[in-house]
Amino acid sequence: MAEQDVVEGSKPEMHFDPYSMEYALDPYPFYEWMRENAPVFHQKEMDFYILSRYEDVWKAHRDAAIYSSAAGVTIERQDNAGMILLGKDAPDHGWAKAMMTKVFSRERMEALDPFIRQRAVDLLEGTYKKHGPDGEFDMVTEFSVELPLYVISELLGIPEELRAEVHHQANKFLARGDGAGEDLQMEANMGLFGLFYDLVQKRRADPKDDPISLLIALELEDDQGVKHKLGDDEIAMRFLEMAIAGHETVAKAIPSGAIAMELFPAEKVKLRADISKVPQAVQEVLRFDPPSQLQGRCTTREVTLHGVTIPADKRVMLATGSATRDPRAFPNPDVFDIDRDNDTRTVFFGFGVHKCLGIHLAQREIAIAFEELYTRFPDWKVFPDRATRVAVTNVRGVAGLPIVLGQHA
Ligand code: HEM
Repeated sequence: MAEQDVVEGSKPEMHFDPYSMEYALDPYPFYEWMRENAPVFHQKEMDFYILSRYEDVWKAHRDAAIYSSAAGVTIERQDNAGMILLGKDAPDHGWAKAMMTKVFSRERMEALDPFIRQRAVDLLEGTYKKHGPDGEFDMVTEFSVELPLYVISELLGIPEELRAEVHHQANKFLARGDGAGEDLQMEANMGLFGLFYDLVQKRRADPKDDPISLLIALELEDDQGVKHKLGDDEIAMRFLEMAIAGHETVAKAIPSGAIAMELFPAEKVKLRADISKVPQAVQEVLRFDPPSQLQGRCTTREVTLHGVTIPADKRVMLATGSATRDPRAFPNPDVFDIDRDNDTRTVFFGFGVHKCLGIHLAQREIAIAFEELYTRFPDWKVFPDRATRVAVTNVRGVAGLPIVLGQHA
């Protein structure tokens, strides 16, 4: 991290490029510097601010009236952000989210447990058959990307015959590095949207007992007594958002967890001895190295915090990736400790109105992945020093991670 002597006030200034490989490899020294030296950090070249302390991030998440999502949640402003839930403000966000939570209820997500477990088992046993106890393979492509894809297709009720295409497009969306880029992502976005849109039209003509048909039929009255129903393109958009939000995050959390456990072997020993600790370990994985580190907002009015005034209509990033390493909230934050008394506010899923819709499902997927890994292959080993990363700002995690399963239990 480059600390320069160019001075703002009496403090040294840090150069922070959110697109740099240095940040992608290890964002935590940057966050530490910000929390201690500039809790409201102004990135001047790109003209955005970062809130990095736990209390500030948490409060800003709860204050959607000041910190608006309407210009999108990435560093750059986005047009049409309001087409997805993440980019909606009140009052539309309220009823739009209520519709989604009605259809994608906690019960519906809980009912997926046996499906998730079966898929995790099939994938792990399949890789064992292919590579044996000593064969090295990529945990990301052969396991962590695959599992949430199956799960999201099941959650959304995608018919069997379309799942291979959803897989293909979602993998295209996640492709990073050589040859991959925004064009490919856009193509995948359009491909998924088209697929969901056609399906909505089919279900409108011939309803089935599935989430799309439920959303088509759903009518919801908001606080003002106005009734809302979703159009075909809105339903397709909601599905696209779920497919993307529910896939990449989990796909990254699993290898991040494996790396943390490898780097803190005493924790791995504890988990191997008692897999009932896995769910609490998942909380710690998400605190220690959360897949979603920066949530973008735009100020609706001037705000002054820690002596810094952020003008109205400025981009502000809420750095949950930094909040979860704030020693003010978590003692010894850089230590991965599965027995830590973790904060129940789970800020790594966001907070306030935009709090993640898939919390329960995400936690179950990650937990089941590790429960099956420890039960079947207690000697599994990953090689963090050979993990590959690419510089992306929206989701943190590795693009590749070598793993060896070891002997079957
Ligand atoms: C480990 C996995 C996951 C993490 C760390 C995560 C994190 C987050 C975060 C931080 C937000 C808030 C963004 C903001 O405030 O700007 C969010 C929102 C959201 N997440 Fe997740 N997520 C995960 C998995 C999932 C899954 C599995 C699904 C779907 C099944 C999902 C669907 C959504 C949706 C639809 C929203 C938008 C909610 C709204 O705007 O009201 N997420 N997630």
